Amino acid sequence: MVAARITVNGKETPISPAAPHTTVLDFLRERGLTGTKEGCAEGECGACSVLVARPGVNKPTDWVAVNACLVPVAALDGQEVITSEGLATAGESGTPAALHPVQEEMAVRGGSQCGYCTPGFICSMASEYYRPDRCAHPDPADATTTTTTGTGTGTGTGTGTEHGPNGFDLHALSGNLCRCTGYRPIRDAAFAVGMPTEDDPLAQRREQSPPEPVPTAYTRDDSAFLRPSTLADALQLLRERTDAVVVAGSTDWGVEVNIRSRRANCVIAVDRLPELREMRVESDHIEIGAAQTLTEIERRLDGSVPLLAELFPQFASRLIRNSATLGGNLGTGSPIGDSPPVLLALEASVVLADADGEREVPLSDYFTGYRQSVRRPGELIRAVRIPLPLSPVAAFHKIAKRRFDDISSVAVAFALDIEDGIVRKARIGLGGVAATPIRALATEAALEGKPWAAQTIEAASQVLQAQGTPMDDHRASAGYRSAMLGQSLLKLYAQTTEAVSS
Ligand code: FES
Ligand code: FES
Repeated sequence: MVAARITVNGKETPISPAAPHTTVLDFLRERGLTGTKEGCAEGECGACSVLVARPGVNKPTDWVAVNACLVPVAALDGQEVITSEGLATAGESGTPAALHPVQEEMAVRGGSQCGYCTPGFICSMASEYYRPDRCAHPDPADATTTTTTGTGTGTGTGTGTEHGPNGFDLHALSGNLCRCTGYRPIRDAAFAVGMPTEDDPLAQRREQSPPEPVPTAYTRDDSAFLRPSTLADALQLLRERTDAVVVAGSTDWGVEVNIRSRRANCVIAVDRLPELREMRVESDHIEIGAAQTLTEIERRLDGSVPLLAELFPQFASRLIRNSATLGGNLGTGSPIGDSPPVLLALEASVVLADADGEREVPLSDYFTGYRQSVRRPGELIRAVRIPLPLSPVAAFHKIAKRRFDDISSVAVAFALDIEDGIVRKARIGLGGVAATPIRALATEAALEGKPWAAQTIEAASQVLQAQGTPMDDHRASAGYRSAMLGQSLLKLYAQTTEAVSS
């Protein structure tokens, strides 16, 4: 096996002697690339954003921005990374000859003050700059818009869309925080960038295949980072290494390492296993590979599952969605994960695989207790299946302190069939109100067979308000959580009747 190495700004660099738990952020900074900053070390500020060449959705390669503080450098064995230092065109003496267009716009529009957040913003912006399906918006009215970067504190006027006239999607910056410049000049810079020129090397790089995943066995002292190349190898390894921690996007792993100082003896990466990266649409279900990133799923489904389309913009930030997977969100078993309520409402099931074969478990039977599930040691989530047809009335309400990049206090997902004014079927998933994500079975029963009318909704919202066993914590009180459940159904009713009357 070839020694583990990573290509940074075009230069191959051996990963050794970094420890297997070393993050990309620490690895880069230790090698002098200090433009990549540490702000929070837990995926919430974007100061550490870098670009990684990944398999593309519309081109062979996408330049994807990720949080370097969350990713083990060994996970990028054989891969290509660009930092803020690598974006400018190099001059003969090694000094930058010309700023990258994104850097240029940030400079001339006053998008940087103390500069701490700037390299991270630059990398997130560059990822959007190179997004192959970004195109200039035909409606010049979209030149002004409401800003929703970072904590959502930016202000603006205009049409309420979140795309610039150049097609720039501000959600690309939803994981980047700036504490001193203010977001308007940053938005101005984002909306001013043009399209990549034909001789732009990173634009040209998109036309070539991305680096293949390479099998990795990177060990030092008593710890190891392993990347098997097939599902069969991964399942065999999982059977042998019962102490292993499985990672895909590493968004949980990074927090454990940085904030809780956890050091696993053995980490097994499954994010590039082909068997976990498929998307299949059959006549009666959609199967989504557990290791596809949320961004990949969002772009591949392209709104065809409306409830998921509502979920994605509210799930953390674009930076996190560029790495996070459905398999990871279900694998951690967190009661406040954002995908379980949605998948419960969609009546999804999980396909669990081990060295002996596969089994399919309805998600409603999957969670067994706080961060516990029916997944056995040695089992891996291979895929998530969503049955078809979908219920036509769907909504996801996430109640959190900030609009983006936050953790739910309560999350409610609805999927309803309403025919001739009667609720034929109701599926409601809840997060944040019990030790596990749950279905609101009593509320579903209170709705089914009843008219979709104010009286029904009033009664059912009382039932919904009493579901689960919410608790007080630093995010919300139990009383607030219960009240939000009831309000959520009232809000859905108001939205559906508005839609009918407009
Ligand atoms: Fe804040 Fe990485 S340092 S997201
Ligand atoms: Fe100072 Fe953004 S320029 S934090």
